[in-house]
This record gives sequence, structure tokens and C-alpha cells, in this order.
Amino acid sequence: MRFDVLTLFPGMFPGYLGQSLLGKAIEKGFVSVHLHDLREWSNDPHNRVDDRPYGGGPGMILMVDPVVRAVEAVQAMDPCPATVVMMTPGGRKMDQRMVEDLSSRGSRYLILCGRYEGFDQRVSDILQPLEISIGDYILNGGEVAAMVMIDAMIRLVPGVLGDEQSNIEDSFSSGNRLLEFPQYTRPREYRGLDVPDVLLGGNHPEIRRWRDEQSRKRTAKRRRDLLGPDDS
Ligand code: 6GU
Repeated sequence: MRFDVLTLFPGMFPGYLGQSLLGKAIEKGFVSVHLHDLREWSNDPHNRVDDRPYGGGPGMILMVDPVVRAVEAVQAMDPCPATVVMMTPGGRKMDQRMVEDLSSRGSRYLILCGRYEGFDQRVSDILQPLEISIGDYILNGGEVAAMVMIDAMIRLVPGVLGDEQSNIEDSFSSGNRLLEFPQYTRPREYRGLDVPDVLLGGNHPEIRRWRDEQSRKRTAKRRRDLLGPDDS
């Protein structure tokens, strides 16, 4: 899987992407992330890519020409056409189902990260990107949202997770729409809190039942919206 990221702040990415599971996936060649500085496509001696909004109002708008030319140039860097994704708080809200659908669209993604008050509308009119938000709150830019998306997508690439079961069993995957059950590791007792007996007995059918019941209780309490109308 290949990601091309267009951003005003390419320096934000390597620290996060270099670590942990993501770093290993990149190292092993399952995934590549190519960063592109939008300013390279500026038409301005000061490298500006934003301007004031027509009609007035606060903030600055990313200009259509640098963004469209940047996307065209980055598309041409690889023969596989990329699915173009625009990270914007005005987009469709991402959930695990969307991540799964998105990751089945192909093997290359070009991600546009907004800053300021957003993009000139004609960027969307021309490029017809998938417009995606990561939730109902406002970030200072799309970079963190892009990292969230890349992180969630990379987990679905075969071979990236050591244990292939773990993304089927993860909360919100298509195999499981419940919250995770509580987990414990050593010690058996800590400050008067014991590990539940059922987990120590080695009765695996009983453990599965207990975990399923814990997941349902937790989901009912915290996330009723995830349960169907007939679930208790
Ligand atoms: Cl994709 N961008 C920004 N700036 N804020 C957000 C977001 C994206 N998703 C949620 N909030």
C-alpha cells in the first residue's frame, strides 16, 4: 500500500510513522509513505499557497491552482492511480467500516491535508476527492487526521499485524461491533484488586462467555448506539 501525503507540514509525519507497528510495516516494505510539501507548487515568490476568502471572514483559504497542480504532479509520480482523499472537518465521519471500504479500493492513496479555513471549493469540484473527517471536533489541520487514517488503514494490510486474528477481534471491526472486554496481566492481586477467577481457571468456553458478557455490558453502558434495537 502506498500513501502520498500533500501537506504544508511534512515534518509532522516521520516521528509518528517511524515508530512501532507503522515503522515496522514501512521497514518491511508492506507500506510506503511519500511526503510532499504543497509549497513546492506555489506560484508566489514567497511560496504562499493561501489567500483571503472572497466575501470576507476570518482565516485563509488554500488556493485552487497549487493544490490541483500538486495533485496532478503527485499522481504522475507512480503509474498506479491513487484514490484522492481530502481530510476536512466537513467530510464524512470516519469509522471502522469506512476504513475497511477505503482499504479495499486499491493500493494507492493521495491524502490532502488542509490548514487554515480549508480549501477553495473548486479543489473538490475538480478533483472529486473522498472528503473525510475523523470526528466531531476541530483540529488545527488535517495532518493528525491523515496519520489517524494511515494508521487505521495500515493495520488492515495483510502481514502487518503479527497475529491476523487481532484485527478481526478488534472493537468495531466487521467481525465485532462491541467494545473490548477488560484484560489483565500479572500480578494476580494489586492494591486489593484481584484478577477475576474465571480468567485463572483455564476453562476456555467459560472465559469466552465471560468476555462476551463483559463486552456487551460495557457497550450497553458506554455506547448504546453500537447495539442493535434487540440487544440488551
Ligand atoms: Cl480531517 N481536519 C480538521 N482540521 N479537523 C478535523 C478533522 C479534519 N476531522 C475532525 N476534525
